[in-house]
Amino acid sequence: MWPTLKNDNFLRACLRQPTDHTPVWLMRQAGRYLPEYNATRTQAGGTFMGLATNVDCATEVTLQPLQRYALDAAILFSDILTVPDAMGLGLSFEQGEGPRFAHPVRDEAAVARLAVPDMAKLRYVFDAVTSIRKALAGRVPLIGFSGSPWTLACYMVEGAGSSDYRRVKTMLYARPDLMQRILEVNAQAVTTYLNTQIDAGAQAVMIFDSWGGVLADGAFQRFSLEYTRRVLQGLQREKDGARVPAIVFTKGGGPWLDEIAASGADVVGLDWTVNLGAARARVGARVALQGNLDPSVLFAPPDVVAREAVAVLDSFGAPQRADRGWDGHVFNLGHGISQFTPPEQVAVLVDAVHAHSRRQRLVR
Ligand code: CP3
Repeated sequence: MWPTLKNDNFLRACLRQPTDHTPVWLMRQAGRYLPEYNATRTQAGGTFMGLATNVDCATEVTLQPLQRYALDAAILFSDILTVPDAMGLGLSFEQGEGPRFAHPVRDEAAVARLAVPDMAKLRYVFDAVTSIRKALAGRVPLIGFSGSPWTLACYMVEGAGSSDYRRVKTMLYARPDLMQRILEVNAQAVTTYLNTQIDAGAQAVMIFDSWGGVLADGAFQRFSLEYTRRVLQGLQREKDGARVPAIVFTKGGGPWLDEIAASGADVVGLDWTVNLGAARARVGARVALQGNLDPSVLFAPPDVVAREAVAVLDSFGAPQRADRGWDGHVFNLGHGISQFTPPEQVAVLVDAVHAHSRRQRLVR
């Protein structure tokens, strides 16, 4: 039904199978640092949701970075906040201000009203997945994604981004029963949302726990990881005879590496504060690792970008091992690419990753 995959290095690295180079893709690889993205966005009426809800536009912008760079995976163009929007919270993106919800979930009555949304409201996302998978024509695999139950709860309670997470943390400590009910609904919604993306054609899925790292030790396990684990348990892990890898990225999750690696994820995403070699030594036999170049490196001159990419690859080391098969490394940034990144720097990065990782495979 789907065309044969021509470049499966990304899926193979996720599953700790041999690869001919280290696959690379970048969080937020489709976005405002690309002039062609901004042009399509203007054409679509100037709003992010205008782009995301139009299947042809979403397909076009997903493919834009792949036309410029030799990336090894595509990621669905959408947003994590589509799920609370479908719950009726009223999402908008104000120019230069980030996301905002008209109806944040702040009291007992709002929590009681919360329910898993009808997936028909998210049809535009699933249609985009199928359209993108077709347009890719087997070039590289397509990653679907969702926010973690906790990260979605942060936006749902705060009503927008936050610098101190005051409202959501107040609820967590003062009314853990309300927080747990939000997280239960979110976990069910995210599970169904990701499973429907897999049915629509997503070949891997990623859970963004962008704000797990703001939690205290103990609270992280109870309010973030526990619900991510429930999602992972409910995911279909095979589709059309192929394993569908699940990636969990917790920004600031370094202190809980072992626990995240034991959550049921195939791949653990790491930010730039973590030493890849040390992480590999601890959990590399159980999960693949994704990361972790500091996105700010892309502001430096090209020779620095290439050198820092090599440093990340060398920190992980050659993926083949003498004592057991292969360990998995997917090269990525430690967080999303900045809108101020000069596009030509990304080409330098991708080419450096491919060239140096091929060299790493020659030395035994
Ligand atoms: O990676 C990709 O290329 C796929 C698309 C994608 C977007 N958002 C597009 C987007 C993905 C995977 C996301 C995930 C997302 N969205 C996260 C988790 C990842 C992370 O960065 O931690 C979060 C926390 C959000 C919420 C969100 N969406 C914020 C905070 C913002 C505004 C911040 C900003 O960069 O302005 C968005 C808007 C958004 N989502 C944009 C894009 C390309 C910019 C919107 C625009 O065009 O104006």
